[in-house]
Amino acid sequence: MNQKVYITQNLIEDLRKECDGRSANSVFFLVDENTRKLCLPKFMEDDFFGNVTVIEIKANDDHKTLESLASVWTSLQKNGATRKSLMINLGGGMVTDLGGFAASTFKRGMEYVNVPTTLLGAVDAAVGGKTGINFGGLKNEIGVINSSKSVVINADFFRTLDAVNLRSGYAEMIKHGLISNKEIWKHILSFDLENIDYNRLSELLLESISVKEKVVEIDPTEKGLRKVLNFGHTVGHAFESHAMETGKPVLHGYAVAWGMISELYLSYKLLGFPKETLSTAVRMIKENYGALPIKCDIYDHLYDLMTHDKKNEGDGRILFSLLKNIGEIEINVAVSKKDILDSLDFYRETVGLA
Ligand code: GLY
Repeated sequence: MNQKVYITQNLIEDLRKECDGRSANSVFFLVDENTRKLCLPKFMEDDFFGNVTVIEIKANDDHKTLESLASVWTSLQKNGATRKSLMINLGGGMVTDLGGFAASTFKRGMEYVNVPTTLLGAVDAAVGGKTGINFGGLKNEIGVINSSKSVVINADFFRTLDAVNLRSGYAEMIKHGLISNKEIWKHILSFDLENIDYNRLSELLLESISVKEKVVEIDPTEKGLRKVLNFGHTVGHAFESHAMETGKPVLHGYAVAWGMISELYLSYKLLGFPKETLSTAVRMIKENYGALPIKCDIYDHLYDLMTHDKKNEGDGRILFSLLKNIGEIEINVAVSKKDILDSLDFYRETVGLA
């Protein structure tokens, strides 16, 4: 993957290097309302970054829209951006997804750098080149795969995240642990989410990102192996959509963590994933993520939501990425409705709802 990913203590200095050879008026910051307030000020004191154009969009996934995208293109155009300009996306996954798409398409593509400000963004969205917007009621419906020049991570941003946002990001690290190897999985299990050691978190983050980088390197366009990054997401997205519909949205990582409980069960039932590892993993998820309360009368609806997730076999079976063991993956496993409903039963029993 042609994308440099690194953690820095000298964010401004390193970003200056990323801008080398460019004048301040050909560099653009993309921020949302939150990162403008919380993350941008330290750049504004700098004599170079103090002079770059700042483009602001509204925060949150419901603004990952064509309108926001058009407003970014308009600002780039009005402020004389060229194909040689550089966009710096300062924010979570919504900013890096939309900003990456704006940069990739403006004048047929200018370079961009991602500076993720959330753990979830750093471990997932900022890395691997997926960019895009939501459209026609569907998430990430329009976009391109085009990697940023670099991903520059400053772990200081994570110190200001609250416990739930940290856990939301950590869920993707749990996923990377499960799909990689026993060593990384051990590290993931031994990290104390109650008393965060931020230096250790940075080490684990780099290790976790390298899991994703290796997958993306082999299969950047998700023809095969990259589907493993969807582990936990088929059921997880259904939980996430259901929570949204009931007016009680949940953080993405929480939905993925709960989805992993069901998908680990399917891995155990269909591929012989070891029972002890299943128990360890679900206990850890339960202890740290609690539960989304669901009743069995919404199983059919959850199943319907899963069939809309583009992984439909056409005969009622849905394609999953599952595990035979830690790091032993199998993609495109067709799973019957009955097994999916059983996995929801398992979820409810495990988290104490049944
Ligand atoms: N978020 C999964 C991927 O980048 O493929």
